[in-house]
Amino acid sequence: MSGVQLNDITKSYGAVNVIPPLNLSFDEGEFVVIVGPSGCGKSTTLRMIAGLEPVTSGSIHIAGKDVTWARPKERDIAMVFQSYALYPHMDVAGNMSFALRLAGTPKDEVEKRVKVAADMLELTEYLHRKPKDLSGGQRQRVAMGRAIVRDAYCFLFDEPLSNLDAKLRATMRTELAILHKKLDRTMVYVTHDQIEAMTMADRIVIMEKGNVQQVGSPREVYNNPKNLFVAGFIGSPSMNFLDAELQGAEPRIVGQGFDLALPPRLQQAVQNHGARNVVAGLRPEHFASTEAKGGTAESRFAPIALTVEVAEYIGSSQFLAANIGPKQVSAAIEVGPDSAPLQSGDYLFDTNRIYLFDKTTGEAVA
Ligand SMILES: Nc1ncnc2c1ncn2[C@@H]1O[C@H](COP(=O)(O)OP(=O)(O)OP(=O)(O)O)[C@@H](O)[C@H]1O
Ligand SMILES: [Mg+2]
Repeated sequence: MSGVQLNDITKSYGAVNVIPPLNLSFDEGEFVVIVGPSGCGKSTTLRMIAGLEPVTSGSIHIAGKDVTWARPKERDIAMVFQSYALYPHMDVAGNMSFALRLAGTPKDEVEKRVKVAADMLELTEYLHRKPKDLSGGQRQRVAMGRAIVRDAYCFLFDEPLSNLDAKLRATMRTELAILHKKLDRTMVYVTHDQIEAMTMADRIVIMEKGNVQQVGSPREVYNNPKNLFVAGFIGSPSMNFLDAELQGAEPRIVGQGFDLALPPRLQQAVQNHGARNVVAGLRPEHFASTEAKGGTAESRFAPIALTVEVAEYIGSSQFLAANIGPKQVSAAIEVGPDSAPLQSGDYLFDTNRIYLFDKTTGEAVA
């Protein structure tokens, strides 16, 4: 079997178990992003794949080979770390070629690989500069270059962009996605930033406390989160959660300050599930103003009252910090660039985009 397989791997430090049995499989050539809050075990997982950290139990296969007890350099992997110390006394070419030279790779082969990687990373004109004379983004690309020259079967990235400013991070995200297309290699990328996960991944693995909460494409995890954790983690700003009760023969969700009819699809789902008390999930982007509705052909808007605390103008939309009954929520309302600050009053919500979760288990009701 090709790709990378983690079979029931666990990790304990003494009596403390940080990774319960973990099973994951990455296809050859796939770009997988493992995302989760700080301390959930992302780096530990990546370091076990790399062979920098022994597993406590379980097995790891890379490209069809059992590498569970193989040394890092026998695994055909290249890793880019969050803190990528470059050698200050070496120029870009020297930094990029260091590992190859150490491995005794012939000189012309080293030069060829550095040239290809530098072209790919647009570093050709900086090959003879020292790291101190480069911008943060260029340095970051040199760190990537060090990995790329190795041309490994699998690339592992541990939060490689977190030292960069927001604009550069956005640029590097795109560059990494392009790089993945060019290299066509399996890439496993770890981050706590769900935007990075959404923008780059073929598949996202959402982890919490060592447990996989959901695995799916960005569309799947955004549109069909399996539970409250995934729903709250994926999406920006985060989904609003409101306690609600299902009422009536054609169930509506009713809570403090709202009463929303459910579309037939959700009515069916709640009747099958039988739950009475639920948590309703309303994404900020599915609110709309009464004049400019927006939405799609499937949208079914219902009125909902918002008490606006703050309206932030960001051009095409306004972000509202508002209240529904006693509960603070956020809403992103599409309006024209000339719009006045939005006020408290009636708004709309697209009821086809309501999420419902079982109040006791936190699992999606659908
Ligand atoms: N040597 C160690 N001894 C005991 N516990 C450890 C050790 N190394 C890591 N841990 C624990 O293992 C858990 C997972 O750590 P890990 O570094 O994998 O998290 P992470 O998801 O990468 O977090 P971050 O986003 O902050 O980098 C943490 O709770 C951490 O405290
Ligand atoms: Mg980490």
